[in-house]
Amino acid sequence: MPEPALRLDARLEAAAALVRPGLPVADIGCDHGKLAAALAGTGLYPKVIASDLRPGPLAKARRTVEQAHCQDRVELRLGDGLSVLSAGEVGSVVIAGVSAQTAWQMLEAAPWVFDTAGPRLILIPATRHDELRRWLAGHGFRLVCDRPVEAAGRWYAVMAAEYDGQRRALTWAEALYGGTGAWPQAAGYAAKQREKLAKLRRGIPDGTPDADEIDALLQGG
Ligand SMILES: C[S@@+](CC[C@H](N)C(=O)[O-])C[C@H]1O[C@@H](n2cnc3c(N)ncnc32)[C@H](O)[C@@H]1O
Repeated sequence: MPEPALRLDARLEAAAALVRPGLPVADIGCDHGKLAAALAGTGLYPKVIASDLRPGPLAKARRTVEQAHCQDRVELRLGDGLSVLSAGEVGSVVIAGVSAQTAWQMLEAAPWVFDTAGPRLILIPATRHDELRRWLAGHGFRLVCDRPVEAAGRWYAVMAAEYDGQRRALTWAEALYGGTGAWPQAAGYAAKQREKLAKLRRGIPDGTPDADEIDALLQGG
């Protein structure tokens, strides 16, 4: 059992469980570095890369990996998004704790992820889960996991996506709830997502298909 300072929260535990074993993995926006240290500690990955845009968080990550005695198994890289990686270098990319928009901007800047042989993406958006699901579906990514997780009193969706090249448009229900309904924690997550419906509806003109669908969801449909 790792010491408390190194323990993962439920979000990052769920993300760790989705990383492809046997292949290198990168944690982009690693900040404290706990996920990279935990992954390195399992011995399941030939290389763990932890990166951040800013030197301060990367220095924090360095301290964490030293505390966890795994500095020989974690490469720390300073840089923007996936620019620190080369095509084919990793089997999984974790992007957790940044906004949905920051996450998809990182992906848009790395054309090599749009490939059926590309990495599995493990994403925990800090905001706008529905918009990230729409972006993924619209850019040819299929969700292989979409797990609702409560951590520190907030609801998160821990997503794993793989590129299959088939672009899809999502309904509002698909965008808001994704695959979370399959999990025992579905009701708590759905309640949180439902709270967003009224605000979303205010931005949509009456009489449009979007308005009709949101009205049906608001009425419990
Ligand atoms: C809130 S922390 C999340 C830390 C950790 N991934 C987690 O979920 O607990 C967000 C981190 O992402 C980093 N970040 C933001 N934009 C980034 C970018 N474009 N490239 C790399 N790191 C970025 C920030 O510097 C910060 O350390």
